[in-house]
Amino acid sequence: MGFYVPDNVVTNNDLSAYMDTNDEWIQERTGIQERRWVVPGEDTTSGMGVKAAKEALKNAGLEATDVDFIVFATLSPDYYFPGPGVQVQEALGLDTVGALDVRNQCSGFVYGLSVADQFIKTGMYNTVLVIGSELHSGGLDKSTRGRGVTVIFGDGAGAAVMTASDDDSGVLSTHLHSQGEHAKELALIGPATNRWVDQIIKDNDENDLSYFPYMNGNFVFKHAVTRFPQVIMEALEKNGYQPSDIDLLVPHQANLRIAQFIQRSMKLRDDQVFNNIMKYGNTTAASIPIALSEAVNSGQVKKGDLVCLAAFGSGFTWASALIKW
Ligand code: UT7
Repeated sequence: MGFYVPDNVVTNNDLSAYMDTNDEWIQERTGIQERRWVVPGEDTTSGMGVKAAKEALKNAGLEATDVDFIVFATLSPDYYFPGPGVQVQEALGLDTVGALDVRNQCSGFVYGLSVADQFIKTGMYNTVLVIGSELHSGGLDKSTRGRGVTVIFGDGAGAAVMTASDDDSGVLSTHLHSQGEHAKELALIGPATNRWVDQIIKDNDENDLSYFPYMNGNFVFKHAVTRFPQVIMEALEKNGYQPSDIDLLVPHQANLRIAQFIQRSMKLRDDQVFNNIMKYGNTTAASIPIALSEAVNSGQVKKGDLVCLAAFGSGFTWASALIKW
């Protein structure tokens, strides 16, 4: 595992300079104390992904040239197209290995991990690099109008190197879901093919907010607290485990209140759930690999542990992975 976050710390009080918000509201509703936002021009989504990937390779004791395939999850690519997977291929100097871009927002890393797992289990690839990276800060509405969304999101990247192994450790199962009827409840609608840039410019409508992320916060929250426990139980039941068997649950860092709700409803102890949203905010596809990296670094994940990853977000998409470390 490896991760990278920009140095620039933005506290809740810093945000009060842009919009009508305050530390008390943000901490009470989300648990977030601060997040990292890139200094414009200093970091990119692909560049942060490369930094996280290099760290992961170093920690795995592998060379970039050992990588057979790249999976890159993000909702905030450098370009509309191509996706950032190919930029990683170039930056790491990999000789024409395939690069797949995953578009599953908060569930992107778990979806990507699932893809990598299948390629490894079928024998197609031996070593797959899975990256989640997001640069949200540049595209957020930093006026009071956007405060319900903007205070939550942070920038950063995390990466995993997955390799084939003969022992009984590894990914036990992955579980992927979607429900497109709620696509617009958490979305950035335009510019895209349903609303081209020239139309946005032509309309010149100051009330058109389609190019900022929109979130129906209450609605998303209610679905999240239902889907997280469901998909975690699905993974446990598939493998004959129960919640008390989990050594560490690493939930997507959407909102500390959501993680606490899951913990209570599944009767998990504090030491069974990892949270770091307080420091980084919600980094979407990067949140799970950043959290898992920190959990590994701090010794909270040890060989033989049962680790559960779970995510929910825009799409709606949700997913889980059960791993024997
Ligand atoms: O990662 C992808 C998945 N995303 C999620 O899972 C997020 C799920 N949703 C949430 O985490 C929460 O809904 C939020 C944290 C986004 C919002 O919390 P909430 O408790 O649902 O607040 P709300 O949207 O119902 O707003 C309550 C009040 C409103 O004022 P009025 O209408 O009651 O006067 C908002 O205008 O809080 C106001 N408000 C704020 N006040 C200060 C909204 N944002 C802010 C803010 N600072 N940043």
